[in-house]
Amino acid sequence: MSGELSNNIRSLSIDEKEYDDFVDPWNVVSKADTGVDYDKLIKRFGSSKIDDELLSRFEKVTNKPAHHLLRRGFFFSHRDLQLILNRYETGKPFYLYTGRGPSSLSMHLGHLIPFTLCKWLQDVFNVPLVIQLTDDEKTLWKDLKVEEAYKMALENAKDIIACGFNVNKTFIFSDFTYLGQRSEFYRNVIRIQKCVTFNQVKGIFGFDDSTVIGKIAFPAVQAAPALSTSFPDIFGDKKIPCLIPCAIDQDPYFRMTRDVCPRIGFDKPALLHSKFFPALQGAKTKMSASEANSTIYVNDTPKQLKNKINKYAFSGGQATVEEHREIGGNCDVDISYQYLRFFLDDDDKLEQIRKDYTSGKLLTGELKKILIDTLTPVLVQHQENRAKITDDVLEKFMTPRKLL
Ligand code: TRP
Repeated sequence: MSGELSNNIRSLSIDEKEYDDFVDPWNVVSKADTGVDYDKLIKRFGSSKIDDELLSRFEKVTNKPAHHLLRRGFFFSHRDLQLILNRYETGKPFYLYTGRGPSSLSMHLGHLIPFTLCKWLQDVFNVPLVIQLTDDEKTLWKDLKVEEAYKMALENAKDIIACGFNVNKTFIFSDFTYLGQRSEFYRNVIRIQKCVTFNQVKGIFGFDDSTVIGKIAFPAVQAAPALSTSFPDIFGDKKIPCLIPCAIDQDPYFRMTRDVCPRIGFDKPALLHSKFFPALQGAKTKMSASEANSTIYVNDTPKQLKNKINKYAFSGGQATVEEHREIGGNCDVDISYQYLRFFLDDDDKLEQIRKDYTSGKLLTGELKKILIDTLTPVLVQHQENRAKITDDVLEKFMTPRKLL
């Protein structure tokens, strides 16, 4: 078994079992107000940190300043990113692969983040992007009927398109549709399934004897888009490696994929890992589409947005104005400040806000107002973009075809 596969749930040492955070593809919980300890997670998963040196190389190779989501360390970990940069430098092709498990009719604010970075990467590298909607996964894991999950996939696809993807370079597919459309995809699923034992997925994902068989087999479906031959319309039968931007909780799927790939004649996919987008109530949990009060949906009205932030956004401020002026606020746990790190790309402004809140000059209500004023145009713009996505546009994105 390769090094990557041995980093699994069952092989945790006693010390690691006492570790406060729990992270797998379906659950993320941390005991600390500042959220998951990401350095420990890198060690546990065996990935690599995105350090300043790699960031400078990234900027040098792409000839662009790194996106603030990279600069501010929201994308913080990787596997083999330097190999992708080497390819780009020498003009060799690669593609981007990402995905979304549709579990609600509307996406939330946190979902925009990885897609924002994907769009930026697509533009910077000028490469094809495939986006998998795992309606099958959500049917198996949630209390959802096949038809419901499929409907959510189509609705989510519109929210994803609204992030600005280039139709000439992007293919979005629902597993329910595409697996019946191209036998090449299913053949790759079987090639992968042939390489992984029940014991291995038990270790990687924590499955047990009473896990339904659909779940046990599913990881191969999420692995298959990392093989370019799963998309004959895009790549023909060429074997081209990919870069997968994803939240770190998806790493178990891709550790498995990276273990299997060389055994069936493919390059290992490279990975770019993000942190989690915190819930309104604080960084102990991530924002979740199935929990309305922890969540800002991309279709919330400006009024709902304002109310949710004022009512629920966890504050790092003090109990009274007097105390706050004296002691100051704690930006590390303050959700309004944390959200600004994602959505305010002006570094100087952000730094001023941090200083003023920390010193007590800026009050919690004022900070919340800055967040509301920053997010309102983001939501309004998203909703305008989405309203323009007709069924024809959706169909175009979801039709297997040659990409530029
Ligand atoms: N399993 C992911 C989810 O539940 C969806 C997904 C499929 C994905 N393929 C991916 C996410 C590739 C990131 C990269 O959201």
